[in-house]
Amino acid sequence: MAGRPVPDGLSRVVAWLRCPVCAAPLELAGRTLGCENRHCFDVARQGHLNLLLRAAPKNADTPEMLAARNRFLAGGWYEPLTRRVITALAGAGRVLEVGAGTGHYIGAFLDATPGATCLAVDVSPAACRHAARRSPRLGAVVADVWRRLPIVSGGLEAVLCVFAPRNPAEFARVLAPGGQLVVVTPGRDHLVELRDSLGLLGIEPEKLERLDGSMTGFRLVDRQELTHSLRLPAEATRDLVAMGPNAFHAHTVPGTTRTTAAFVISTFQAQGR
Ligand SMILES: C[S@@+](CC[C@H](N)C(=O)[O-])C[C@H]1O[C@@H](n2cnc3c(N)ncnc32)[C@H](O)[C@@H]1O
Ligand SMILES: [Zn+2]
Repeated sequence: MAGRPVPDGLSRVVAWLRCPVCAAPLELAGRTLGCENRHCFDVARQGHLNLLLRAAPKNADTPEMLAARNRFLAGGWYEPLTRRVITALAGAGRVLEVGAGTGHYIGAFLDATPGATCLAVDVSPAACRHAARRSPRLGAVVADVWRRLPIVSGGLEAVLCVFAPRNPAEFARVLAPGGQLVVVTPGRDHLVELRDSLGLLGIEPEKLERLDGSMTGFRLVDRQELTHSLRLPAEATRDLVAMGPNAFHAHTVPGTTRTTAAFVISTFQAQGR
């Protein structure tokens, strides 16, 4: 392992990272990041960095869920959303995605934006293993969005959060004043036909008033709804069920499925401290 180089994606974001124990800057020596207080973190063999300081929570996405998500997203079924996310982030050069999963959305943004560098954070090590491979300009770090993020204050131009937990106070801290926060939430009719036919756990449509009310330190500057219909073959339907919370329940998945994909893309601006 000693000879294996640290992935470019991680090397590029080391200056953004802070020690999760004492918040001091981290420096890379060989395959270890360390701070002046001798807290050390080894880069994993798969290229990501774990700054969680504890075991992954039991409900973190499993490798099987990640594999299903990877296949489903690679199938292009959410391509209209991917394009909207790229447009929403246009112009940003230093971007954090929280709850990044496989790194699908931030990876697509990087593919479309040659000058940008990004950091993917997820509490699931299995997710970070995927994200670390997604782009040579994407670093992947295991961390918990509900805690203080191991990231420098005021250094980022945008934060992306797609169907993932939000911590507005931390997002405001890591963003430069005027920086953007792009949040994707499920629309009212998201997968409604599939959920009805299989009795799936609700992908609860998020009350937008609740979202807006939680965004202390941010101003809503844009909101778009995106709805399209999906005609999914059996394999894609299986993956769609298996990549979410329903993966933990047994379901008999039908053949070809018609259902609705519905998203809300909200852009907030950090108001400065
Ligand atoms: C529904 S998935 C969305 C993944 C990705 N954004 C996408 O749309 O493909 C939610 C993600 O949030 C991550 N997650 C859940 N709780 C988290 C936490 N407390 N901190 C960081 N990530 C978390 C999960 O591991 C999972 O990858
Ligand atoms: Zn430290």
